[in-house]
Amino acid sequence: MGNPLRFIGVGVVFLLFLVNTLSAQDEIIRLPLPPNIMDKTQNQMLNLKHDTVLYFLAMFFVSPDEDTGPSDKEVLISTRQLPEQIAVELRQLEVEGMTGDKVFAKVRELLKSGVANRYREIRHRSFGISDHWSEMERQLFLDDTEIWSRSRIASDVKGTVRVIYRTQRSGAEKRRAKGLPPMSVAMTLKKGSEDVRETELIIKREDGGLDWDFYVYDGDGKLAVSSLFLASSGKKETIGPAPYSCMTCHYNPNRRTFENLPRRPYSY
Ligand code: HEC
Repeated sequence: MGNPLRFIGVGVVFLLFLVNTLSAQDEIIRLPLPPNIMDKTQNQMLNLKHDTVLYFLAMFFVSPDEDTGPSDKEVLISTRQLPEQIAVELRQLEVEGMTGDKVFAKVRELLKSGVANRYREIRHRSFGISDHWSEMERQLFLDDTEIWSRSRIASDVKGTVRVIYRTQRSGAEKRRAKGLPPMSVAMTLKKGSEDVRETELIIKREDGGLDWDFYVYDGDGKLAVSSLFLASSGKKETIGPAPYSCMTCHYNPNRRTFENLPRRPYSY
């Protein structure tokens, strides 16, 4: 027989471990939200920060608990609903003392860091977002004119030609049969060329909600974390991190959703 003290010691360590793991799973984080301004006569964009935080959190909910649903002032979120890395980041914020604006700043930082690409399978399970455009394109059947409308435009935000595909209502049945959610695809062409500079996608979430997700493939066809835009102020090209910059232009302040069609007039 070994030393009974040692046996007890190991038991205690194991118990601590168990308690620690269980409580980590169940920990509730209380996140204050940026103010939610309901006055429609005011600048409606004032709700963008608030809605960005909720949009970010909803990227991770597989099935949100009733009692942790969004409120106007704060959201209670169980760490069990979040990927470990995100839970750690938010818990850290809790330690530092939180305000709605600090929560927004953290969410913006995470949204700019490619977090949406990393966890894309949570919101897009049945329809996988591939690492490479060539693989993605194979699933889309862009040549099928029943599913897709196609237009070629001179884009102000890109300063060059864009070819835009959008799933159309009349082809919804056929689209669903191919396992495709509603979406828009925009291919931006290099100036004076038919080569694609970047391909951007906006895909409806598969949970029946109103929000859409944003993805970019670069000129080599790799899933990327940003694309290029012309700043509204001048004609200077600027880097827009996805999905954060996408969300600023593709926000519908009346419905308070992030969608495929941009807000007009846009500014960011
Ligand atoms: C500066 C504002 C702005 C930003 C930032 C922006 N968009 Fe857009 N987006 C537009 C505008 C305006 C259009 C309409 C087409 C055009 O004029 O180029 C559009 C159209 C689109 C379309 C076609 C939608 C349709 O069905 O007609 C897609 C796809 C798209 N954007 C994806 C993205 C993605 C992905 C990002 C982020 C990487 C993004 N956009 C960021 C303004 C913006």
